[in-house]
Amino acid sequence: MPYPKIIGLDVGSHSVKMVEIDRSKKGGVRLDFVGLAQLPEGAVVDKAIKKPDLVRTAISALHRSSKTATKQVATSLAGKSVIIKQVTMTSMGDGQLEKQIQMEAEPYIPFDIKDVHLDWYIMGDRPEKEGTMEVVLVAAKKDYMAEYLELITGLKLMPVVVDVDAFTLEVMYEFCYPNVQEEIVALINVGASTININILKSGASQYTRDLPLGGESITREIMRMFDVNFERAENIKQGAQLEGINPRNLRKIFQRSVDSFVSEIQKILDFFATNVSYDPIQKIFLSGGAAVTYGLASAMETEFNVPVELVDPFRSLGMIDDKVFDAEYLRSIGPSMAVAFGLALRTEKDKQV
Ligand SMILES: Nc1ncnc2c1ncn2[C@@H]1O[C@H](COP(=O)(O)OP(=O)(O)OP(=O)(O)O)[C@@H](O)[C@H]1O
Ligand SMILES: [Mg+2]
Repeated sequence: MPYPKIIGLDVGSHSVKMVEIDRSKKGGVRLDFVGLAQLPEGAVVDKAIKKPDLVRTAISALHRSSKTATKQVATSLAGKSVIIKQVTMTSMGDGQLEKQIQMEAEPYIPFDIKDVHLDWYIMGDRPEKEGTMEVVLVAAKKDYMAEYLELITGLKLMPVVVDVDAFTLEVMYEFCYPNVQEEIVALINVGASTININILKSGASQYTRDLPLGGESITREIMRMFDVNFERAENIKQGAQLEGINPRNLRKIFQRSVDSFVSEIQKILDFFATNVSYDPIQKIFLSGGAAVTYGLASAMETEFNVPVELVDPFRSLGMIDDKVFDAEYLRSIGPSMAVAFGLALRTEKDKQV
């Protein structure tokens, strides 16, 4: 079998997402499982696991309901314990860099280099500066990573690929949007606590950033403004429990939050435009649970003056059994499954962080 099965497991601050696909079938890739389990407030904060029991419960409930025999898992890290930095170094080969990576990376990593697990990816030479190359460094704190992986192995699952959220978006995009005409696109994933940004040129990543912002800040504002608990505030935000709520005040919260998301993203796009590429971004692919935040996509279209498309990772799957999966449900959870879907596409050969 060319592709041993791997479960994509995305542990976010708001929910755990799981996707399993089967690439061994003739006639296309088959969707085997998709599941989302909301986490109680405070179980995962900024991608750091605070209440492991609750996270374990959510993962095993999803794994059980998938009824899969697959134990191999691809998962991803993000948050404060993970640093992604794009740096310029003297040109050298992969082997040479492997020997020197600790020394080369040290100036860029704000943690003790002994405490981090390092990975890198050579993007290529910098044509405008002879003898130099662009390298993406990924440093994950060893204790954070170990804790996270132990939680997974404790459930008798086997983490075989460990990625970072921003890069999984690229894998998803490559598979799901093979015919996009635009050369420069931004993949923007708006989660509960983090906005992951990955800007691609001709399909290759040019610039990635994580912003410590997301949908949870809107929930917190709703809690404050209407004096309600977290759960109720989430329901209000998603339009389910609006009785007794002044719509004008709610709109103000959305507007303020959307404005702040847009202006922080704008800074990243401006940085890209002045430091990385002089060509403008031509399209944005928006994902993450909070991608559907009221007014967000339209504000991005207006402010950045580019089309914004909501990501649907299931669009390119030829084999979705409509007796098992409801098309409407898949469409509604699609944007929040972008990272998990990218993970499910990983193979065991992919490098570990
Ligand atoms: N219909 C909706 N309208 C507005 N916000 C929504 C809606 N559905 C989900 N959200 C918000 O999306 C966020 C969850 O998104 P997502 O599942 O991508 O986050 P996560 O992966 O759990 O978190 P992290 O930021 O740690 O990656 C939450 O803040 C949630 O309230
Ligand atoms: Mg997420």
